[in-house]
Amino acid sequence: MRSMIDVLDFSVEELQELIDTANDIIEHPAAYSERCHGKKLATLFFEPSTRTRLSFEAAMYELGGNVIGFSEAASSSAAKGESVADTAKVISCYADIIAMRHPKEGAPLVAAMNASIPVINAGDGGHNHPTQTLADLLTIYREKGGFENLTLGFCGDLKFGRTVHSLINAMSRYPGTKVVLISPEELKLPSYVKKDVLAAKGVPYVQTTDLEGAMPELDILYMTRVQRERFFNEEDYLRLKDSYILTPEKLKNARKDLSIMHPLPRVNEISVAVDDDPRACYFKQVLYGKYMRMALILKLLKEAGRL
Ligand code: NCD
Repeated sequence: MRSMIDVLDFSVEELQELIDTANDIIEHPAAYSERCHGKKLATLFFEPSTRTRLSFEAAMYELGGNVIGFSEAASSSAAKGESVADTAKVISCYADIIAMRHPKEGAPLVAAMNASIPVINAGDGGHNHPTQTLADLLTIYREKGGFENLTLGFCGDLKFGRTVHSLINAMSRYPGTKVVLISPEELKLPSYVKKDVLAAKGVPYVQTTDLEGAMPELDILYMTRVQRERFFNEEDYLRLKDSYILTPEKLKNARKDLSIMHPLPRVNEISVAVDDDPRACYFKQVLYGKYMRMALILKLLKEAGRL
């Protein structure tokens, strides 16, 4: 059964196919409004989320389908001690496709191994978040016209930021990608991502603490929130939370065609004064996320023979 657990589960060609479908949905939404009539998406969210869960739900409704599910572990049988494997088997009897978010790395993979319907990883701990990457890729495609020869700056919590890990994975497959890693010492990109992804694919990268110094060479600046829920103690979080705050002043030396991205939710990392800058893309990114999730649901349901 085809699932999406990691963005690398899909080839570059398949990702392009999703982008093409999403662009077609944007052009002709009415043509898609009944495609999933009678189908059910189960949203199994063992960890809080507004954007991602509602984005999946909106995506399924815009395809004419229905949604069942829960939005916190406390209201699921996990509270009674049920395993993820059993939950996946049970939900397979009720729904056509699952979107799962879980605080434990690997939980959606376990679900996929046990479900008889496709499973979409909607974020597993500090590991991966492939559908946010789909939103990010459509944003990059529409802003830049393609994926080749781009220099991406990732800024903030590169240690726990799963959206960063997934996007680096995806972008490392396109020729000419360069990466600038901007973070405090304590929140540097994990060495497994540097070694297994960047070094293994021969992607040139530099690490720095200096956002303004890196600014002039960037095509894309990907800001991130410091992931409070993954810290072992509050003191460290408080010390690091405001390490980087993007202001109009700090954009002085940025390129005219820079794209400023952020997976949201934003805390303090981008001043609201930046929102009116035409280079700010983070609210478009949210909208694109819904269209890419629609494209993904269609593809997985078709491959599962359910459409
Ligand atoms: C991200 C996440 O959940 O990892 N949010 C999202 O899905 N858009 C980023 C974050 O929570 O900071």
